[in-house]
Amino acid sequence: MSKDASGGPFAFPDETQIPEQFRLDGPVVCDRVLVNGELRHWDGPMREVLSPVCMRTPEGPKQRLLGRYPLMGRADALEALGAAVKAYDHGRGRWPTMSVRQRIGHMDQFVHRMRAIREEVVRLLMWEIGKTYPDAAKEFDRTADYIRDTMDALRDLDRVSSRFTIAQGIVGQIRRGPLGVALCMGPYNYPLNETFTFLIPALIMGNTVLFKPPRVGVLLHFPFLEAFRDSFPPGVVNTLFGRGEEVVHPLMATGKVDVLAFIGSSRVADSLKKQHPTPHRLRSVLGLEAKNAAIILKDADLEQAVSESVLGALSYNGQRCTALKILWVHKDLVDAFLQKLTAAVSAIKCGMPWEAGVGITPMPDGERVKYQVELVEDALAKGARVVNPGGGTVGCTFFSPAILYPVDASMRVYHEEQFGPVIPVASFEDIETPVRYVIDSPYGQQVSIFGSDPEVIGRLVDPLVNQVCRVNINSQCQRGPDTFPFCGRKDSAEGTLSVSDALRVFSIRTVVAAKVNEANKALIEDIVRDHNSSFISTDFIL
Ligand code: G3H
Repeated sequence: MSKDASGGPFAFPDETQIPEQFRLDGPVVCDRVLVNGELRHWDGPMREVLSPVCMRTPEGPKQRLLGRYPLMGRADALEALGAAVKAYDHGRGRWPTMSVRQRIGHMDQFVHRMRAIREEVVRLLMWEIGKTYPDAAKEFDRTADYIRDTMDALRDLDRVSSRFTIAQGIVGQIRRGPLGVALCMGPYNYPLNETFTFLIPALIMGNTVLFKPPRVGVLLHFPFLEAFRDSFPPGVVNTLFGRGEEVVHPLMATGKVDVLAFIGSSRVADSLKKQHPTPHRLRSVLGLEAKNAAIILKDADLEQAVSESVLGALSYNGQRCTALKILWVHKDLVDAFLQKLTAAVSAIKCGMPWEAGVGITPMPDGERVKYQVELVEDALAKGARVVNPGGGTVGCTFFSPAILYPVDASMRVYHEEQFGPVIPVASFEDIETPVRYVIDSPYGQQVSIFGSDPEVIGRLVDPLVNQVCRVNINSQCQRGPDTFPFCGRKDSAEGTLSVSDALRVFSIRTVVAAKVNEANKALIEDIVRDHNSSFISTDFIL
C-alpha cells in the first residue's frame, strides 16, 4: 500500500490557507459542565481534542490541536445522575408533571436559541469530525427540523389523547407518560443529529436526561449548554463528559437509569445493559453495527447503480451506519460496473472539509485509517486487488477510497463493518448467493436492490423484508426521511426511531380509569372543568 506523506492528493494546508470564514482562533477550551441547572466551571482534568485535519509542518503533517474538554470522574457522573433523579423526583418533579403544552413551550425556546449558534456549531463539526461544510450544515439544519417535527408530532399525539374512551362500563383517559432518567449517547459520525434524535424526544416526553457526547465530536456540544440551562428547569438536562468506563458504567450499576439510548457497538451496549441490576426495568433503544449490501441485478441501470453505490459507500467517507458496505454485482455486469465505479470514484475530490466540491475528507484519527489499511491488506493477501488507481493510499489521516475485487468469505472485509472508504465488490450468478449473504449476516439493518424487472424485484423484496428493516429499490440505503421508521433486526438495533416512533420509545402508555357511575362522572367532569390535573384533561392544543 502506498503512503503519501505530504502532497499528492492529500495536500494538507498551513494556517494561511484556511479560509477566513472557517478559521478557529486558538484552541477551544470547554471548561464548563451542566449539572442541576448550573453551568459549573471545570478545573479538573481535561482531554485534548485533535482535529482530523492535519496541518503542514516542517516535520510533516500533524493533526491540529482543536481544544480541550472536561474529563469528569465517577463522583462527578454520580452527581449529575443525582441531579437528573432529583429533577424527575419519581415522576413528581416540575418537568414530568408539566403539561404537554408547557413542555413544548420550553422546547420552542430552545430551538430558537439554536439559530444563534448555527455557524459556530457547523464550523466545529467540520473541524472536529472532518465533515464537509454542506454536510455539517445539513446535519445542523436536519436537527433543527427534527426538533420542530417532534413538537408537531407531540401536538398530534396530545390531541388524540385529549379525550375519554368508554368501553364495557369503564371510562378511561389514555396518555403517554415519561419513563424516568434517560441516558443518551450518540455516535461520532452524527454527533449532533443522532444525539439529539434521542435527547429531544426523551426530554419532550417528560424524562430527565443525562447526555454524553461520543469520544470524537464533543466540543460542538458546548455552544448548546447555555441554551439548555436557560430553556429547561434545573436538573432536566445534565452533561457527562469523559471516558465511558468512568462516567457511564457506574451510573448503569446504580439501577437509576431508566432508559439507555445508545448508538455504537453491540459489545459496549451489552456491557452497559449487563451493569444494570434490574435489566427488566431498563428500556433500551440502540443503533448498532450494520453491513448493508447492495444487490445489483443483471438488468440494473448501470449509471444509476454506480451513482447510488458511490453515494451509499462513500458519503462522509463511508462513515455512516447506513452506508453500503458490500456490493454484490451480477457476473454479466461486473466488468462494466467496476469500470464505471472506478471512473466515478476517481472523479471524487479529496480535500479539506471547507473546500468546495470535496467528497473525501480526513478520518477522525490514525486508528481508523489503520483499520482500513488492515482490511485492504488482508483482502489483497487472499486474492483481491485494488481496482482503482491510487486506491488505499494513506496520507496521515487521509485514506483514499479503495475498490476491492473479487471479495469472498475468506476476507475480513466480507464480514466486518469497515465504517470507512473501502468498497468491497463480490460477483454472483445465482441470486441465492447474495440473499444467503444477507440471511447469514449477523446484521439486519437495510439492503439496496438494483434492477428493472418488476417480477424479479417483487419476488426479491418478499424474503428480504424479513431479513432487514428497509429494502431500498434502485436507491442507496439511508436513515431519512426522519418520518420513516429507522430500525434493524438481529445485531443491528433495538427499538424503532422516527419522529413519531421516538416519542413512543421514550414513554409508556398510562391510563386513568373509573367505572361509569353518576358520582365518578361528576368527579371527572369537575377535575376537567377546574383544571385540577394535567393528565385528566381535554385541553386541545391548536
Ligand atoms: O450513521 C447512521 C445514520 O443514522 C445514517 O443516517 O442515512 O441519513 O446518513 P443517513
